[in-house]
Amino acid sequence: MCQVTVKQIRVYAPASIANLGPGFDVFGIALDGIGDTVILDVIPERRVEITASGDGANTIPLEAESNSAGAVAFYVMESRGLDHGFRIHIKKRVPIGKGMGSSGSSAAATALGVREMLGLELSQREYVHLAAVGEGAVSGSPHADNVAASLLGGFTMVGHEYEVIRLDPPEVEIVVVLPDVYYENKTRLARSLLPEKVGLKEAVLNVGYASRMVAAVAIGDPVLFGRSINDHLIEPYRAEMIPNFWNVKQAALEAGAYGCSIAGGGPSLFAVGENSEEIGEAMAEAFGDADVDSRVILTRPSKLGARVI
Ligand code: HSE
Repeated sequence: MCQVTVKQIRVYAPASIANLGPGFDVFGIALDGIGDTVILDVIPERRVEITASGDGANTIPLEAESNSAGAVAFYVMESRGLDHGFRIHIKKRVPIGKGMGSSGSSAAATALGVREMLGLELSQREYVHLAAVGEGAVSGSPHADNVAASLLGGFTMVGHEYEVIRLDPPEVEIVVVLPDVYYENKTRLARSLLPEKVGLKEAVLNVGYASRMVAAVAIGDPVLFGRSINDHLIEPYRAEMIPNFWNVKQAALEAGAYGCSIAGGGPSLFAVGENSEEIGEAMAEAFGDADVDSRVILTRPSKLGARVI
């Protein structure tokens, strides 16, 4: 039986971009300056209560089983046989349903919070798995690329059974452009567009770009990092859910981006380059050509992951 060592805790976890082009369900990078905060309280009742505030908070489910933070707390309550529950307040800052790891950010913050409150000794693999339980509740698949980056910060690579390698991220400017389109159950939808099998030629191309990206991170080469943002496996299938996708991407490259692809499950696009403001403007203009409003976020990688604040 676990002992409660802390009755209330406040945790922040950064937003993230998953896939990064070639690394579907493997690569993730934590983002600076944007993330969710979760305040957790122990309550005597054996249940998980959730409230939320902030951007789009009224659109997220508040039932524990279908909320990424709630699912993490519920899983711990059940699997550890706790005789108490949790109250969770989520302060949403990461845009919801846009591909910036919104559910992963809340799940990662909750995993750290619960671990600290109960003094759980978790291996890194168990810790990542715990946060991925939250992701699974929302998307139907407990992929860990967003939560690994949100938990650990930096550039992360998810392997078999939640084994994660983390590297310090490259020093690059990242621009994310969020189109004003909304899909219900977006990650489920984005995953449902993907084929069961992929072509050998396309797989070889992705392995090449993914290898180059890891090398770029390891040697700290921002240009090689940006030029490795290429995806032949996923992007062609998801492009159809993003208005004017190919022109927005082209606009980014013409404005000087080293690379541009879909942020996570979309519908946002991200690009890496030295003049991110101009790149963002060009991308927003291309969305505008399709009568789609968009929001531009300028950011950079965060070395830090989830932390108690
Ligand atoms: N790797 C995931 C996907 C990220 O692309 O479906 C979205 O959460």
